[in-house]
Amino acid sequence: MSPYPPGAEELGRGPVLAPRDLDLDALERDARAQLGEMAYAYYSGGAEDERLITENVGAWRRIGLSPRVLVDVSEISTTTTVLGEEVMHPVLVAPTAIHRMATPDGELATARGAARAGTVMTLSSLSNTVLEEVAAAGGGAPQWMQIYVLRDRGRTKDMVERVAAAGYKALVLTVDAPVSGLRSREIRGGVHLPGDLELPNLAHAAAARAQRDGFMAVVSREFDPSITFDDIGWLAEVSGLPVLIKGVARGDDAARSMESGAAGVVVSNHGGRQLDDAPATADVLAEVVDAVAGSGEVFVDGGIRRPSDVVKALGIGAQAVMVGRPVLWALATGGDDGVAGLLTWFAHELRRTMALCGTPSIQDIDRSVLDASRSPG
Ligand code: FNR
Ligand code: LAC
Repeated sequence: MSPYPPGAEELGRGPVLAPRDLDLDALERDARAQLGEMAYAYYSGGAEDERLITENVGAWRRIGLSPRVLVDVSEISTTTTVLGEEVMHPVLVAPTAIHRMATPDGELATARGAARAGTVMTLSSLSNTVLEEVAAAGGGAPQWMQIYVLRDRGRTKDMVERVAAAGYKALVLTVDAPVSGLRSREIRGGVHLPGDLELPNLAHAAAARAQRDGFMAVVSREFDPSITFDDIGWLAEVSGLPVLIKGVARGDDAARSMESGAAGVVVSNHGGRQLDDAPATADVLAEVVDAVAGSGEVFVDGGIRRPSDVVKALGIGAQAVMVGRPVLWALATGGDDGVAGLLTWFAHELRRTMALCGTPSIQDIDRSVLDASRSPG
């Protein structure tokens, strides 16, 4: 029995379909008009000079593909598994905060859209919607919960126990935000949580602080900067769930994460919102995959904008990718239909890229699909 709504299964396999164009730049422009400048500044912004936002996208472009020919690609299967759960394609929803600034239904719409598209949504701790309600909106589709270890460890423990009880399938522990990045655009744009929105999964004071002082104040006052690898085992034990470590940019940290009990890592730089001089995720993915060496699953986010980026990430060794900002633009302009439409576009056009590469199944995608003369690592 599929955990996804009727119709999602069709996204997992079949012939290459008629081409579908999707102009992500136009989608962002439309979202900006819909959102207004304050919300757009929050969603689009990064740290310092925002060079890494651009570099995240550009690094995937620099990687080449080396297509095979004379392979039967009449049927393409994009189905795969992530932490043992089947997804219709390897494009997951990254955890992003404050969805009710984009649409009144907020994270409920995102959950419905991800479920309709047969994939995993990762819910941010800074969701405007109670985590149990988002779980219900997903209708049984696999969901993951992103968490920050809070200074209040008791609250962290309570939250993690609620997450497990609500049926989330994994924790995604974010480790690249021990303190906030220098979000110049947020400061200049006076970014703050609108007075009618809450952060119901955090302490009430967090919402009040975000309304008064912005999100960086929440990061600095609520999140525990003293966390270490030892906390991974604690989270796994308290929750009974697999724990992914999100924000890893080095092979040695990835290896230590696995030794400390992680089920895998997400190679990420928070979408360029933390350290502007961190490496683009495409440039360090191979190092991390080699360091994990099959002891867990590796995911990657940051600048994934094309189905070919997905093939490149899987070719390097990622189990799946996560998409952040494009989901927000789709949410702002189309609610759950928008999110389902974006993810469905990725699935449909991933079939085309796989057919053109001569890789009819996800299992066929390995490093031989990469053009060695145009690949990092
Ligand atoms: C984020 N991201 C993020 N990550 C996380 O672990 N917890 C969070 O609450 C948030 N919140 C958040 C808000 C906004 C507006 C953005 C843009 C990003 C980072 C996110 O999970 C992911 O790493 C990046 O967004 C991926 O890069 P792209 O796809 O946005 O280029
Ligand atoms: C951000 C925090 C909430 O990137 O993760 O805005």
